[in-house]
Amino acid sequence: MTTVLITGCAGFIGSAVLRQWLAETDWRLVGVDKLAYAGLRESIAPLLDHPRFSLQVADICDGPALQALFAREQPDAVVHLAAESHVDRSLSGPAAFIQTNLVGTAMLLEASRAHFDKLVAARCEAFRFLQVSTDEVFGALGSTGRFDEASPHAPNSPYSATKAGADHLVRAWHRSYGLPVLTTHSPNNYGPRQLPEKLIPRIIHHALRGEPLPIYGDGSQVRDWLHVDDHARALRVVLEGGRPGKNYCVGGGSELSNLDLVQRLCALLDARLPARAPHARLIQQVADRPGHDWRYAIDGSKLERELGWRALQPFTQGLAATVDWYLDNPEWMERACARLQHSAFHDSSS
Ligand SMILES: NC(=O)c1ccc[n+]([C@@H]2O[C@H](COP(=O)([O-])OP(=O)(O)OC[C@H]3O[C@@H](n4cnc5c(N)ncnc54)[C@H](O)[C@@H]3O)[C@@H](O)[C@H]2O)c1
Repeated sequence: MTTVLITGCAGFIGSAVLRQWLAETDWRLVGVDKLAYAGLRESIAPLLDHPRFSLQVADICDGPALQALFAREQPDAVVHLAAESHVDRSLSGPAAFIQTNLVGTAMLLEASRAHFDKLVAARCEAFRFLQVSTDEVFGALGSTGRFDEASPHAPNSPYSATKAGADHLVRAWHRSYGLPVLTTHSPNNYGPRQLPEKLIPRIIHHALRGEPLPIYGDGSQVRDWLHVDDHARALRVVLEGGRPGKNYCVGGGSELSNLDLVQRLCALLDARLPARAPHARLIQQVADRPGHDWRYAIDGSKLERELGWRALQPFTQGLAATVDWYLDNPEWMERACARLQHSAFHDSSS
């Protein structure tokens, strides 16, 4: 049976990957997560008793713990999602990002290499290390053009700089040590179980409380949105069919300005909670984020051409289902908010 070690499994994307891959493959999944503020046991609670899943609570910066874990679990692949992931937090406290995203990735690469070097030839041939990166490593676009696999790294925030640095470490472990690595770059994900410090759940959470809906600057920044389940499927396709040493851009195909997005959310909330309409009256501009990238967009044609992947979830439907999920799961939202409150970060936009 194939064993896949997934770091960051209790986060937004990691928990979606677990749910989908347990349902659609016969793989054994070993989740590694330190259950930091963004790692919610609630997000994976129904999976904890699954016979093909085990949760290992560990910090990816802890080299000896990782080495022991690899020796015990003998993975055939590593999917690296664990990260500090919120740009605003990286602006006020970059050290944690340097620690987890750079040092943690280096530790994980070293544990993977030590494990890989001991594998017999057939298992060596099949072993893969998948680095889950972001479009933010490429910097900002103007009103035209899209990022692709040849785009140079030009990160602008401490978050994207540490993700870019991690991409370079991954590339170096391939070139220097022959570790069979793959890298994906995806745009902003949306869907259930995302912490309400990120735009979509934050807007929903504020709207439900009748609080101002903060929007950076004039809201003209453009993002390319991808449903988290489409992302999970893309990661599986790349893991199974990607060529070692190559990177793959995952296209969302749903470019939208932040203001458009918030207005759409308001319309969805108006339809569901008419007594509180119009929610758009709560929209409030706040000071823009320093160094805020203006536009991201991805050309995902290589992934479609080479591996037959494309996003299946139409954005309009996906966004409506996402709003419904948050409205139907107030206990999850409460737990998530409690975690945020205890995570010592002052969000200047709210
Ligand atoms: N969310 C997006 O839109 C998006 C887009 C592109 C790429 N990505 C990348 O995908 C990955 C997952 O993103 P997400 O949105 O699910 O993030 P998230 O913040 O929701 O989850 C991150 C997870 O990593 C865990 N973690 C953090 N530090 C750790 C450490 N030192 N050791 C072990 N576990 C640790 C957290 O507990 C949490 O469960 C990240 O690498 C991110 O850069 C995210």
